[in-house]
Order: sequence, then structure tokens, then C-alpha cells
Amino acid sequence: MPAAVLVGAQWGDEGKGKATDLLGGDVDYVVRYQGGNNAGHTVVIGDQKYALHLLPTGILSPDVVPVIGNGVVIDPGVLLGEIDGLAQRGISAERLLISSNAHLIMPHHKALDKVTERYLGKARIGTTGRGIGPAYGDKVARMGVRVQDLLDPGILAKKIEVALTEKNQVLTKVYNRRGIDPAAVVEEYLAYAERLKPHIADTSLVLSKALDDDKFVLLEGGQGTLLDLDHGTYPFVTSSSPTSGGACAGAGIPPNRLTKIIGILKAYTTRVGSGPFPTELTDDMGEWLRQTGGEFGVTTGRDRRCGWFDAVIARYATRVNGITDYFLTKLDVLSGLERVPVCVAYDVDGVRHDEIPMTQTDFHHAKPIYEEFPGWQEDITGAKVFEDLPPNAQSYVRALEEMSGAPISAIGVGPGRDQTVVVRPLV
Ligand code: IMP
Repeated sequence: MPAAVLVGAQWGDEGKGKATDLLGGDVDYVVRYQGGNNAGHTVVIGDQKYALHLLPTGILSPDVVPVIGNGVVIDPGVLLGEIDGLAQRGISAERLLISSNAHLIMPHHKALDKVTERYLGKARIGTTGRGIGPAYGDKVARMGVRVQDLLDPGILAKKIEVALTEKNQVLTKVYNRRGIDPAAVVEEYLAYAERLKPHIADTSLVLSKALDDDKFVLLEGGQGTLLDLDHGTYPFVTSSSPTSGGACAGAGIPPNRLTKIIGILKAYTTRVGSGPFPTELTDDMGEWLRQTGGEFGVTTGRDRRCGWFDAVIARYATRVNGITDYFLTKLDVLSGLERVPVCVAYDVDGVRHDEIPMTQTDFHHAKPIYEEFPGWQEDITGAKVFEDLPPNAQSYVRALEEMSGAPISAIGVGPGRDQTVVVRPLV
């Protein structure tokens, strides 16, 4: 059976939760493979709205096994808070599996994330302040604390002491902050250990067996292609690999298991935090998109920067991820516009670029070259099949498909579970 990847094709917040939910009925395992509680998925079921940060969206479907893969960084307090919040609404997290190799976000990671951003001033990345970058930094530096360390109190205490010996020097002497008491952290994390123990597993092995048993595994990325540490708009990126290549490393399954790579693409573009964004609208039109699309962050509540669809970005996402299908979200937000501009290429200091410029300097200078498409006035939120869409909306979708270089197989026409036009089955 296949393993499919869901990957954000822009700067995150494309509506991945809705896509995961749409596939839910066919899926046996949903795996988060990177990121942490910097992500935010909103899923609307009936009149209930769920905002998930760390838990895979599969948690909402009783027949799905939700998995937090080795590539994720976990803030255990946040995870338990999310589990408790769902329990209060009658949703059990008993099936949740957590990779023993995933890394833990520690109090010093959160402290350092906040203080380094402050020190960067205008050059700040605009992180979510959740300790993501410092946690991945320690992972790469081979001084991280992993989920499996929760199972061995002696090792846990030792690792925390070693880490804090260095980090407290940095916090107090470089940043003039208070140091963190290792004993208090050990106590806090041992309490988390008690509750998390039943969920800890060799998830790579579990997933491999599941695939051998013909189960369907869905790998769910957080953030998006342009926030990828390697392939995004570095340094204004997150510290992990949301792209499809990262899915294998972060879940512990090999590339030849992947059969579908589904890109999630919003009908316009948004971005949170700093960094280049060629089609950004800083005028009333941008505000209109923000209000109409409800573009306020699930995780931080920050206003999202908004702009027109950027086909250069979409083509790039198709290429680096090997997208087999797109799920185009939030098409309904564009209803009522006279004309809908789409960025088809960039002008960089007088030179046309059909691809993302090679250097950061050029990308910062990129000006969008727009092609305008006729808009549609009709309400499309009730559309069930492609033919229900007004002709101009159909043309817009076809044009995006052509420019992106991969088929648009599903179209979101509203936030609800049933407000999706399926052009062809995604899996
Ligand atoms: P970090 O992931 O908190 O280190 O933040 C790095 C960058 O990624 C910042 O620009 C954040 O706004 C952005 N970012 C992180 N997670 C998300 C997300 O889920 N959606 C959109 N942007 C995100």
C-alpha cells in the first residue's frame, strides 16, 4: 500500500489540515515528520473547530493511528496540554505513537529563541518563539535530549545537566538572563515521562510493518516548501525540512515507499514572519485578502502577510517536491473580484526570471510580473463538482494548473469538511 506525503507548497498555512481530513477515511496512519508546535492546523468538523499544533490531524479520526515521527521536536508540556484539551471534548489520544528518536524542546530552547530574536532586532526571523530553532540546533550539535531519554531518569538528568552547564553560561553571560535550574527541569520532565511513556515507540519499525501489511500511511508536513531549511528563503525559514525529501528522513521510511506527493496550494499567497515575498500586497487589497480569508495565525495569532498567487513559487514547489497532485485551497476567498492577478515571472533589476533567482540578494529585488484573469462574482461555497464553478473560476484553476506544472485534483471552496470539489481522487 502507498505512503503519501502532504506538503505545503508556499510559506505554510495553505490549509493542510483540511486536506488531511479529506483523506482521513482512507488513511490508517497519519505521521508528522518535522517541525513542532510552531505549526498550526485548523480542522472544522460540523460546528466544531479544532486547532492542532503538535498532534497529527489523524487524532480526530478514531480509526487512524496518529504518529509523531523522529523528525519532530516535541515540547512535552504543550503536547500534554493538547491531549488534555481534546480529552475534554471527548477525543481520545490513546492511539498516539511518539518516536523514541524525536527530540525534546527544553526550557532553555524557548528562552534562547526569544532572546536571540530580540538581539537580532530588525534582522530577526520572526520565529514563533517556541524554541524550534534552538532545539534543532542542539540536535545537529549532538547535545539534544530525545524522547527515549525520558525512559532513563539517570541519563535524562545527566543530559539536562550537561546542556544547562553550557546554556546557562550563554543565557547569563551573553544575554543577561537568569539561568535555569537543572534539578527543576529534571523534575518537570520526569513528570511528563510518566504520562508519555505508554506512547513511546520505534515508529520507523511500526510504519514499515504497517506498509508491509498494506496499510495506508499519510505523512503530514508542517510549514511549507519556502520555509524549508535547505530549499526555502534562507535564513527566513524554519529549522527543519518540510519538503517531501524530509518526509522520509523524518518518518524513518525509505523514498521508494512514497507513491503520492500532494502539494497544498492556496489560491493566493500568505506568509508569517520576515523574509522576501514578491507578491505581497501592503495596501487595502492585502487587508481585504486578510479579512476575507481570515488570515490570522493559528499558532501565534499574528496577522499573515497576504498577496496574489505566485506561479513561480508553485512551479518551484512542484519541482523540489515532485508533486503528483495539488489540493488548491480557499478558492472561495477570491469570489467577488473584478480581475485576479497572478504572478507569472519576476523582474529582477530589469531581467525577467521564470524561476526563483539563485541568490538571496536577487530574490529580495524580485518584482512580480502579473497576468490578470477575469474574476467571478458568484458564491462558490456550495460547489460540489468542477462544472459547478463559474466559467471564470474554472479558467483560473486551469491556468494555475498549467503554470504550476501538476494537476489540481481537489479544490477547497469553504472551510467545512464537505466544501471540497474533488476533480480526481487524490489517492
Ligand atoms: P520557527 O519555525 O518558529 O523557527 O520560525 C521560523 C519562520 O517560520 C518564521 O518566519 C515563522 O513565522 C515561520 N513559521 C513557522 N511555522 C509556521 C507555520 O506553521 N506557518 C507559517 N509560518 C510558519
